Amino acid sequence: MKLFDVYPLYDVTPVSAKGIEVMDDKGQKYLDFYGGHAVISIGHSHPHYVNRLKDQLDKIGFYSNSIKNPLQTELASKIGELSNCGDYNLFMCNSGAEANENALKMASFHTGKPKVIAFNNGFHGRTSAAVATTDNPKINAPINKQQEVTFLAFEDFEGLEKALQTGAYCAVILEAIQGVGGLDEPSTGFYQFLQEKCNQYNTLIIADEVQSGFGRSGTFFAFQHHGITPDIISIAKGMGNGFPVGGVLIHETIEASYGLLGTTFGGNHLACAATMAVLEVLEQENLMENATLLGAYFLQKAKAIPQVKKVKGRGLMLGLEFDFAVSDLRKKLIHNQYMFTGGSANKNLLRFLPALNITKDHIDVFFEALKAELV
Ligand SMILES: Cc1ncc(COP(=O)(O)O)c(C=O)c1O
Repeated sequence: MKLFDVYPLYDVTPVSAKGIEVMDDKGQKYLDFYGGHAVISIGHSHPHYVNRLKDQLDKIGFYSNSIKNPLQTELASKIGELSNCGDYNLFMCNSGAEANENALKMASFHTGKPKVIAFNNGFHGRTSAAVATTDNPKINAPINKQQEVTFLAFEDFEGLEKALQTGAYCAVILEAIQGVGGLDEPSTGFYQFLQEKCNQYNTLIIADEVQSGFGRSGTFFAFQHHGITPDIISIAKGMGNGFPVGGVLIHETIEASYGLLGTTFGGNHLACAATMAVLEVLEQENLMENATLLGAYFLQKAKAIPQVKKVKGRGLMLGLEFDFAVSDLRKKLIHNQYMFTGGSANKNLLRFLPALNITKDHIDVFFEALKAELV
C-alpha cells in the first residue's frame, strides 16, 4: 500500500528532537521556528513532558469516557486557574477541527438556530461544520457546502449587525489572531461591538484559540487582549505539545445533558497527562511572560531589516511581511540555514511560531540567517 498523496513534502526526515533542535536522518541539525504548525509549545521532548507521559503509560493509557477519570477533572481546574476562565466547563476531544465542530454544534443546540457567521481568510479545520466556516472553497466538498455560513470582513460593523438582526445565527466563530490566513486580527472596538450585538440577538461567540491559545500570544488566550467573554473557546495544538488532544471550554451558562456530546478517545489518560505537563511547564518556566518579552525583542530586531515591510502578530505568534512571495526564502532557510519557518495564505508572509521557551540567542541566530539569505 502507498500513502494517499495529499502533502507536498520538504525533503527532510527528522529522527529526533530536543528543545527547538531537530535532527534529521543524516545527522544534520535544524532549528525549529515553526513548531509543526504552532504545536510545539514547550519544546520537543521536554523532560517533564516525557516523564509525565512515561509514568502515565506505566499506569493506564486509556479507558473510555464511561468510567471516572479524575485526570480530566484535575485538568479542567488547572486550565481554569491558569487561563482565568474558571467559569467554563471542559469537554475534551482530539483535534482542532473536532473542537470547532463541537463548539458549533453546541451553539446550535443551545440557541436552536442553524446559521453561522465566519470571517474572510479564517481557518477552522477540515471536518463538516468547521470546514464550512473555513474561507477556502478548495477544501469544501459539495457535502460541506450545505451548511449555512455567511462570511464577513473584520471591521464590517454594518454587515455584522445586519446579519445578526435576522435572528437566524447560532454563532459567530473567529480566530482571535488568524493563523493560516496570515496573522490579521480584529480591533478591540470590533470585538466590543461583536460582544454587544451577539448578546442582543442571542448569538454565541466562539473564540477559536486552537492556534493562538495556551500562552502563544503572551496571554493564555488571545481574545484576552480585547476584554471580551466568548461563550465557547476551542483549544488544541499547543495544548498537547504534539500529543493529539483538543477541547472546548463551554461557558457555565450553557447546560450539558447526557449524550449531547461524546467521543471514544477524547480526554484519555495520556492526553490528560500530556496537557497537564504542558500547563505545568508553562507555569514553572513563566512561558507566557517569555512569549511577551521575546515577541518584543523579535519586533525590535525585525525593525532593523529594511526588506521587512510589516511585523504581524503578538507574543510568539509572529509574521514578517515582505513585498515578495516568501516560498523561495523559506526553502533557502531550510536548505542553507537549516531552519524551519512557516508560510500562510498571504504569500508574502513568513510565519515564526517557535516553542515558547526559546531564548534571545535563538532569535539572534534566526535574524543573522535571514539577513544572509536576503542579500
Ligand atoms: C485556528 C485553527 N483552528 C482549527 C484548526 C484545525 O486544527 P486540526 O488540524 O487539529 O484539526 C487549525 C489548524 O491549523 C487552526 O489553525
